[in-house]
Amino acid sequence: MSAPSIATAKEVFDLVSDDLLAIELEFNQQAQSEVAVIRDIARYLIAGGGKRIRPLLLLLGTKALGFTGDSRIRLGAVVEMLHTATLVHDDIIDDAQTRRGQPSANTTWGASKCVLAGDWLYMQSFHTALQERNFHILDLLIGLTQQMVEGELLQMQKLGHLINEEEYFDLIFRKTAMLFKVSMQLGASLAGSPDAIEQQLGEYGRNLGLAFQIVDDVLDLTGEESTLGKPAASDLREGKATLAVIHALERGTGAEREAIRTVLADRDFTRVKHATILEILRHHGSIEYAMDAARAYAEAARQSIADLPAADAEAAKALRALQWVPGYVTDRDR
Ligand code: IPE
Ligand code: IPE
Ligand code: MG
Ligand code: MG
Repeated sequence: MSAPSIATAKEVFDLVSDDLLAIELEFNQQAQSEVAVIRDIARYLIAGGGKRIRPLLLLLGTKALGFTGDSRIRLGAVVEMLHTATLVHDDIIDDAQTRRGQPSANTTWGASKCVLAGDWLYMQSFHTALQERNFHILDLLIGLTQQMVEGELLQMQKLGHLINEEEYFDLIFRKTAMLFKVSMQLGASLAGSPDAIEQQLGEYGRNLGLAFQIVDDVLDLTGEESTLGKPAASDLREGKATLAVIHALERGTGAEREAIRTVLADRDFTRVKHATILEILRHHGSIEYAMDAARAYAEAARQSIADLPAADAEAAKALRALQWVPGYVTDRDR
């Protein structure tokens, strides 16, 4: 009988648990500064936890390609440090109060210190990446940073406005999917893979990252703060129109469109309640529409690597694990 093509959560965890632990240690070591406030903020952020999905992807990618060098631990820490720094900046921009189930760093240390601590952490991730002495890796990380910053800025320009799907997908590619893509490409680069393989893994990361942000946006609309660990319905309160909302705007009656427009313009639920918006979204099947889109990207991710050959049994396990991750992304509740 042939091996099942999709792994279980336990199989995935067993495969990389030691490496993920090593990445936590590396992140901790990299977060040492002579300046106490940087250390304090960094420690607080690391202790806050998080899903660690970006290092998980990098590890599974390198394993699938048969690479076992220490660089995988360093670069796993790099993508998580970089992600953490962007969250610090994102919470300042969004004036968020909660992150990972605890007060966000900006509420404790204030925005000014957190901007700088985020910058420090961001540069520390580059410093760590530089140890590879590999220009291609730097190239990937610099391109990534520019796309993410452009994504956040484009998003800001569009706050309170109605955007179309094309603009939405452009935004979420830049702000989220690009880091998923680069996490996969870094793995391929470490393994010294040919360009075609790096592209294939990058395509997996791009598709998965799009699915990931669509689900994040759906959870923001439908989830509870106690589960999410961050404020619910914050996108509407920030004036952000996400996929389900865009769908309802295109199909709603005049009055429904007006209700959505009002919330996006007011950035609060005083005139129109959150429940009213959810009712409109449900009425038009907009949540399902967004989830269908997420599931389609998750499937596209699986397809992107369907024909990758496995060098050995370990690589085959990692490939199966990569087939598992898209289902985890679409089925999660936080
Ligand atoms: C949050 O990312 C930012 C988005 C791209 C939506 P995660 O959902 O991966 O956050 P943590 O690291 O698990 O807290
Ligand atoms: C992801 O978008 C932002 C980053 C890429 C940092 P969100 O604004 O939706 O992230 P959350 O919901 O605050 O985690
Ligand atoms: Mg945010
Ligand atoms: Mg969000």
